[in-house]
Amino acid sequence: MITQEIRVTGDGSKTIFLPELNETYHSSNGAVQESRHIFIQNGLDLVVNKGNIRILEVGFGTGLNALLSASWAEKNNQPIQYIGIEAKPLPPELCFQLDYPRHIGQHADKIYDELIRCDWEIDNQLTTHFSIQKREMKIQDFVAFEPMDLIYFDAFGPRVQAEMWDITILEKMIQSLNSGGALVTYCAQGQFKRDLKAVGFSLESLPGPPGKREMTRATKI
Ligand SMILES: C[S@@+](CC[C@H](N)C(=O)[O-])C[C@H]1O[C@@H](n2cnc3c(N)ncnc32)[C@H](O)[C@@H]1O
Repeated sequence: MITQEIRVTGDGSKTIFLPELNETYHSSNGAVQESRHIFIQNGLDLVVNKGNIRILEVGFGTGLNALLSASWAEKNNQPIQYIGIEAKPLPPELCFQLDYPRHIGQHADKIYDELIRCDWEIDNQLTTHFSIQKREMKIQDFVAFEPMDLIYFDAFGPRVQAEMWDITILEKMIQSLNSGGALVTYCAQGQFKRDLKAVGFSLESLPGPPGKREMTRATKI
């Protein structure tokens, strides 16, 4: 069984540390700060099609990115349909110990509670503007039936899980997007960026969150 430890990060928010892999779920400089910077400010805030926004998350994990997106949907009155793919769902009691709603604001407690407790494999309308389908599966087996506007690519790093950064997965990612749609990720590794270009993405290297020089935003032209 994999051991999961809770760690406090630089902005006071918590994350999960896996000693066997020597890997954390989020940046040790700040979990909530990192998620806001990469996935909200350089992802959701920049979506071009502001109708019904379809988001795919690779690595649902603790649900932090989904919680931030649900709060964004309510604040901006923009409908979001979210698909969260996760190979190994975390125990709900571990997620609740992370205390994320404390960092997010009004109504976040109720949203996070429902986000973590809701059933897998079905559509759950959590708030007026946010629905989610959590899928317990590997991204390698996922098929998008409708094109996405945004992909949160939040896998463990290439050092611990190289297969997640393979070109075949990047091909699947570009095929899953609408034209004008984007993939955002914390990773700014050279080979990864070359592979994104090779499958047809247009790249922007953007300033990373505190403690990280760069992040990547890849757009399907
Ligand atoms: C960096 S963590 C995700 C952090 C998450 N987005 C959050 O905010 O908590 C990477 C996640 O990818 C999941 N994962 C690993 N292999 C996977 C696969 N083949 N397909 C989908 N998810 C996978 C892990 O179990 C882990 O939850």
